Order: sequence, then C-alpha cells, then structure tokens
Amino acid sequence: MAAIIENMLAQCARVIYTKLDMLNKYYIETFGCQMNVHESEKIAGMLESLGYAPAATREKAGVIVFNTCCIRDTAEQKIAGNIGELKVLKRADKSRVIVIAGCMTQQKGAAEALAEKFPFIDIVLGTANLYELPNKLKELNERRARHRGKIVAVDDNDRPPIDESVPVTRTSYPNAWVNITYGCNNFCTYCIVPYVRGRERSREPEAIIGEICSLLKEGYKEITLLGQNVDSYGNDREDGVGFAELLRRIAAIEGKFRLRFMTSHPKDLSEEVISIIAKTPNFCKNIHLPVQAGSDRILKEMNRKYDRAAYLGLVDTIRRYMPDCGLTSDIMVGFPGETEEDFLDTMDLVRKVRYHNAFTFVYSPRKGTVAASMPDQIPYAVKKDRITRLIALQNEITEELSGDFAGKTYEVLVEDAPKPGMLCGRTDCGRLVNFAGDASLVGEFVDVRITRNKASALYGEIVKNG
Ligand code: 5AD
Ligand code: SF4
Repeated sequence: MAAIIENMLAQCARVIYTKLDMLNKYYIETFGCQMNVHESEKIAGMLESLGYAPAATREKAGVIVFNTCCIRDTAEQKIAGNIGELKVLKRADKSRVIVIAGCMTQQKGAAEALAEKFPFIDIVLGTANLYELPNKLKELNERRARHRGKIVAVDDNDRPPIDESVPVTRTSYPNAWVNITYGCNNFCTYCIVPYVRGRERSREPEAIIGEICSLLKEGYKEITLLGQNVDSYGNDREDGVGFAELLRRIAAIEGKFRLRFMTSHPKDLSEEVISIIAKTPNFCKNIHLPVQAGSDRILKEMNRKYDRAAYLGLVDTIRRYMPDCGLTSDIMVGFPGETEEDFLDTMDLVRKVRYHNAFTFVYSPRKGTVAASMPDQIPYAVKKDRITRLIALQNEITEELSGDFAGKTYEVLVEDAPKPGMLCGRTDCGRLVNFAGDASLVGEFVDVRITRNKASALYGEIVKNG
C-alpha cells in the first residue's frame, strides 16, 4: 500500500514539476524579415527579465509568442495555419499564454479578426505596442483571476517613440543586429510595410554608436545595421547626421569587425556612402540593392522613384569603387499590368547586373495598398511562369559567378557549425562558404580556399586561422 501511495505521490510531483517548469518557459516563433528576427530578440529579452527561460519547443512553453509578418499572402496563410495548431496546446493546458505580435496584427481590422477566428489567443500586440508585453502579461494574470478574457493592444500611432531601454537576448552570435531606423516613408505601391510599421524614425547616432561599441566589447564580430531604407537615416532628425556621417562615425571605431547593413534604396544610396564603404576595411563590400523590376513603366507604377538607367548607373558607380562588391537584390514579378515585354526588361536587367544572389517574389496584393486596387491584376499561371524563368536565370548567374571563386582564398567569419565537424561563414562580399573545422572556431576569422562549388553553394578548406 505504502509503495502505491509513494508511487502516486512521485507521479503527482512529476506532473506538478513539469507544469511549473512549463509555466516559467517561453517559446518565440518568428516569421518574416531580419527586422522581426531582431525584434524577437527583444521579446526574449523582455521575457527573460521577467524570469522566463527559453523552451526547446512550443509544447514545453507556458508563454508562446508568434512574431508575425504580412508582406505577402503566403506568409499570412502559413502563420494562420501555425496559429491554428496552437489550439490543441491551449486545450491541453489552459494556463498557457498565447501572444500574437508583429505586422500581421497591425493591418486594418486584423486584430479583431484574429481574436475572433482564434478565440484561444490571449494577447494581440500591435507593432507599436510590442514593448508593453511585460505589462500586458501582468494585466492578463489579473484578468484571469477575475475570469475576464483576452487583451487586444493595437495602437494606431504611426510614430511611436523609440524605447532604448528594452533588454535584448541575442541569438545570432557572432553577428549582432542593430536597428538604425524604424518604419518607412516610401509607400512603394505594392508594400504594406509603411501601413503596419508607421513613419520612419531614426535612432540617436550616440545610441547606435554606444550599442555597437558595447557589442564589440562583448565579443560580437559582425554588426548588421537594420532599416527599411538605411540611406534615409537621419532625414527625420535635426542634427544633420545622415547615413554617410553615421558610417563615418562607425568607421572611426577601433578594432577588427565587420559591418553590414540592409536595406539600401536605389533612390537614396549616395556616391558618398559608396566611397566610405569602399575605403573602410571593416565595412563589407556587399550591398543589398533591391531593384524590384527592370521596366521603367512598372518602376513608375511601383513608386520606386528611380528608373532603369539610374539603377544601372548606380551599379556602375558601385563597381567603379568596388569591383568585387557582392550585389544582391529583391525582384518581383506579376505586378499589376506587367506585360511580357516589361518582364523581359527585368530579365535583361538581371543579365546586365549579374547579382550574386536575388530574392525573387510573386506580387501579392495587400489590402489597403495602392497596387491592390490597380486594374490588370496578373493571373497566377502567368506569375508562376515568370517567376520560374526568373529563378532559372538567377540560378544560372549565381552558379557561373560561383565558378569564379574556385581556387581563390577568402577571409571568412565563421558563423555557425551546422553539424559536427562542419562550419559555415561568409566572405566579405557576402557569399556563404561551407568547410570542415571545429565548432570552437565559431566567431573567428579564418582564411578559406574555395575548392569546389555545387550549384550556388561554395565549399572550401581552411588554409590558416586569421
Ligand atoms: N508582394 C510580393 N513581394 C513583396 N515585397 C514587398 N511587398 C510585396 C508584395 N505585396 C517584396 C519586395 C521587398 C521584399 C522585402 O518583399 O521585393 O523588397
Ligand atoms: Fe516597402 Fe518600399 Fe518601404 Fe521597402 S522602401 S519597406 S518596399 S515601402
């Protein structure tokens, strides 16, 4: 009898322990761009400052946060599917807290629609409300005590103040993400970002420099500046510090590290900025310069504010200063009214520029944007045909360019050990290289000789540690 009771007690203790353990753990699922990846590091920072620890899976977490994206319909569909899966977890344990944050919640009517479609969501947090997470968790606990339901906190404020005090739990060593701006003023006609992220706000240059210096002191080896349009940094400020001056101040920081930034807008990237990148050894010769389309008519309809000739001229300028600069792009097919001829202009531009790599997208109408109500929406079959041809062309170019790397030696920052004995990292120009080595080298600079390439992937071997 005593043994049975003992057994039962042990079992109860295990259940209670598992439950307590779960209650103290969080799990964040991130969808979308690097901006969101970094924002999730801030969500983690806030949760850890409340005493939560990371859980390995959703199932093991008491607080589950989805940091969402709404840039294309495919992203939204995928997220909706994932949110649906949480129902089972919530049913298994009602004390679980489910938080939906990020861009998806900020679209008109979306927060209410989410709460209605998925009644098990506890907190919906808009992009301007992210930093209220600790308060909202507290509020939820108080409400639960009174059996009152969910919280929807989605402000319309399109200029929320920048909170510099948010703790950050970084997950991308040896790289560290650093915001320089939030929001966007460009209103490209296809894009939802200006509606869900508000107007462009630039951080104080001192705050940015201070953050970079302390990250380098902590041992981070690569800093990636983030902004929807890094080149318009400072336009909303009165101290006259623009992107070029910010870069000059970062260039003056001592020690060896790598600086990258994204995203550059072709209408704003200046020759001054290009020349600073070219002459600063710590700045990577790597520019992500989305062209979106190669047809002047489509670029105008997109409100991109440059034409094909200006873009190609900018590429020439970059290559004059930095012949080996790694150029990458975002390219879209199937924008409303895009004819076969317009598409062939895009293909021709891709052939002329020869990007190292490109992110290719099928245009997806976003409710509330100008392009969504333009006539001549392109049928899916046509979009599919064009994206297939574009991807084939870019793959061919990437593969050809990869061939040029063979036999040469590049300095690589070791970024990860994806499996035992294997490492990967990037060259200064941004190409990913795979090579053998010990995981203790993550965060070190090593010289790698490229031995072969398979399609777009590069493989090499360490010739000496940097
Ligand atoms: N449909 C498809 N692609 C889009 N992008 C932005 N909005 C849309 C849309 N509605 C792409 C652009 C941008 C990248 C981040 O996403 O190419 O540069
Ligand atoms: Fe969207 Fe254009 Fe702003 Fe980029 S610059 S976030 S594509 S509106």
